[in-house]
Amino acid sequence: MQLPDEQIEYSFQRLLAPSPDPWTPLAELQLQNLLPPDRLEPMRTLMNAVRGQVAAERELVNPPPKLQPLQAGFIDLPQKTLDAFRRKGDASELGKINRLANRLKENVDRCVVLGIGGSYLGAKALFDSLCHTYHNELPSKMRMGKPRMYFEGNNVDNDALQDLLELLENTCVEPEIAEERWGIVVISKSGGTLETAAAYRAIRAEAMKFYGPKSPLLKQLIVPITGPKGKLRDLARAEGFADDDILTIPDDIGGRFSVFSSVGLLPAAVMGLDVRALLLGAAAMTKRFLEEPFDRNPVLQFAAVNHLMTTEMHKTTRVMAVWSKKLESIGFWYDQLLSESLGKFGKGATPITSVYTRDLHSRGQQHQDGVRDKLINNLLVRTCKHPAVVVGMADRNEDELNSISRKGYPDIQEAAFAGTNQAYAEAARPTADIALPVLSEHTIGQLLQMLMLATVVEGRLANINPYGQPGVEAYKKNMMAALKATPNLPKGEVRDQAKGV
Ligand code: PA5
Repeated sequence: MQLPDEQIEYSFQRLLAPSPDPWTPLAELQLQNLLPPDRLEPMRTLMNAVRGQVAAERELVNPPPKLQPLQAGFIDLPQKTLDAFRRKGDASELGKINRLANRLKENVDRCVVLGIGGSYLGAKALFDSLCHTYHNELPSKMRMGKPRMYFEGNNVDNDALQDLLELLENTCVEPEIAEERWGIVVISKSGGTLETAAAYRAIRAEAMKFYGPKSPLLKQLIVPITGPKGKLRDLARAEGFADDDILTIPDDIGGRFSVFSSVGLLPAAVMGLDVRALLLGAAAMTKRFLEEPFDRNPVLQFAAVNHLMTTEMHKTTRVMAVWSKKLESIGFWYDQLLSESLGKFGKGATPITSVYTRDLHSRGQQHQDGVRDKLINNLLVRTCKHPAVVVGMADRNEDELNSISRKGYPDIQEAAFAGTNQAYAEAARPTADIALPVLSEHTIGQLLQMLMLATVVEGRLANINPYGQPGVEAYKKNMMAALKATPNLPKGEVRDQAKGV
């Protein structure tokens, strides 16, 4: 059961236009840029209908062509995963995830996660938001044995990959010592993504050099996660992995909707996160979405408001203003979710992630005074995990902070939040808030599921299929053609990168 104070909240009062009486220049700006409250009234019926449609799509076995591709499996996945774990324990998918994650956790000090797009951003968002900010720098004891985490295969940056190889070569010298062992999680649903496949070749070659080409550790310390069919599955089988040691991404779960499948859960379990709490949070959000009326339903409200602001108020740039640097990767995860789901047919808002207050000193000027094309969705956490850092008294007061000496960082944050949103309100810049009571697996589970559900609802409202990403294929095709157009150099020779691109 979910307690009300664990629930995340969405509030959008500030972006509703007040009555323009009496007329003032600000009232005129508000009329032009904020949402007329009566515009939301007819949305309630529409939102119920769209919710019914999205709920019904879960049951479709053979969807009509206009609904294809349809990958609604993510909606019920959290609850189904929990139920299967309760029924079948170790034999369930979560049981298998736990087993493989424990094997990695107990045997390595470093774990390299390979994947791109939906096969990377969710795990990175969980790591950055829920692990210690300096996790990788902590000594093993403070990490309580949880491995350091590295993310690769999400670009084609030669030097970044070489730096990682160099780090592994210099810090991991003796494969017999657990503290010097490292493992790999390779994630690709299609199994054919060049960035991930090339990085897996390079990292696997490094592992073979380190452990020996025939070492049984190679199979124990590598976890492949892939779709039911494809090149990565073929490769893993050829490398001798048992089917039970390969995790499967179901067909009905799209890449950017896969954070609560093994794609996000296996890395989360390796990081030592409470995977059950993540799933409970996500399942609670699905329940809220399916059962609650509009006024208590953050999914329907967020989808309705963001849809209207984009399509009717022309706020085509959607800023996710995160009020903690630990949430930046959640913003990047949402960037992909929104872009690939709704950026189709010349439509869809452009997402931007800003970390406040950091980016108030960079993008802030644009957000306050620039083009009026923005909706700012604040993402904030109401309670800190640690005691407040207090400004404190100083004998000398050159910096003139003694007058706020008893204030702590949470007070400064609160003042910055109120001050920023007041400044936006006074310039008729629309803002809304997603508030997390605390930063925990349970609230992050709710948040990610809320944003995935809202994106699907928004797609259906705008008549855009939120699943599939046909536009991504164009660059892939050209990249492969360009690679194949130049001959492979003779064995042993590599191109002089200084003369490269
Ligand atoms: O959302 C998606 O489906 C994509 O972003 C994919 O996750 C991304 O392209 C990676 O694909 P794959 O997991 O097949 O390597």
